[in-house]
Amino acid sequence: MTVWDTAEESARDGGTVPGRVRIRTDDVPAPTIASRRTQGARINESRPVVFDIRDMSVYYGSNRALMGTSMKIRRNLVTAVIGPSGCGKSTFIRSLNRMNDSIPTFRLTGEVLYHGHDVYGPGVNRVEVRRRIGMVFQKPNPFPKTIYDNVAWAPRNLGLRSDLDERVERALKQAALWDEVKHRLRTSALGLSGGQQQRLCIARAIAVEPDVLLLDEPASALDPVSAAAIEELMHSLKNRYTIVIVTHNMQQAARVADQTAFFSLDRIDQVGTLIEYGDTETIFRSPRDTRTRDYVTGQFG
Ligand SMILES: Nc1ncnc2c1ncn2[C@@H]1O[C@H](COP(=O)(O)OP(=O)(O)OP(=O)(O)O)[C@@H](O)[C@H]1O
Ligand SMILES: [Mg+2]
Repeated sequence: MTVWDTAEESARDGGTVPGRVRIRTDDVPAPTIASRRTQGARINESRPVVFDIRDMSVYYGSNRALMGTSMKIRRNLVTAVIGPSGCGKSTFIRSLNRMNDSIPTFRLTGEVLYHGHDVYGPGVNRVEVRRRIGMVFQKPNPFPKTIYDNVAWAPRNLGLRSDLDERVERALKQAALWDEVKHRLRTSALGLSGGQQQRLCIARAIAVEPDVLLLDEPASALDPVSAAAIEELMHSLKNRYTIVIVTHNMQQAARVADQTAFFSLDRIDQVGTLIEYGDTETIFRSPRDTRTRDYVTGQFG
């Protein structure tokens, strides 16, 4: 038994996916921004902790990419990671599901506790980590297979072969793609538009019913309409999943995120570090640190 088995029950609270809500792609007034988020810092603070990151530093060889990061990521919230290029945003979220392990020079110090269990602890099964903590990348990367086989790929690998049709349909519905593809499931995924391909990648990630979804700039390569569809999707998915999203788009962070973490380069060491973390309203309207304020108001650099 891996340590992950003991976290099984706490991994999900079985919420339902609400109906779709239209959103705008341009900037929206404050009341609308607030209404699309889970209300209130205190409510956010009361949610169970999914990740407890303690003094995490990441090195590539002798270069430190991220230093001394401590923060808690809470269940069924959207947590945005923002900050200038090179400040370690991708390094940060890739460290949460051991995606950096494939980089030979990668080294991590500190602790990443997932439901209280050390992700980098001895005996932890990396395949199981990735099943529970799914990831979607900036560039849609469907396999050169049919739409159905893309979504069925991970369940098949894990031996989840019973009710596969239902599982594929459920994932495609959750990813708000079903209606567009239900008549062409056996055609190539490469024939889909970029926005559809990205929703397919989200369907592929959620087909094994993970606990957490990590999204590294999932909408930045998409047109505004597809980007809005991805945002809308995050709202409907957060009742089922805990979502961490890296984005360069401040309006997007303000619209979708309950919590926001601002990373930047440390003034002295020029190493990526967490500058400020809190509920999105506070980070955007009354940040404590001048670097956060400069960044969210576009005066950075
Ligand atoms: N595989 C790697 N090998 C060596 N150094 C790396 C590697 N990946 C990232 N780095 C370095 O780590 C630092 C942080 O990079 P990272 O990609 O995490 O930044 P980022 O905030 O995601 O940037 P962007 O907004 O451009 O995507 C950079 O200095 C980068 O050069
Ligand atoms: Mg990045």
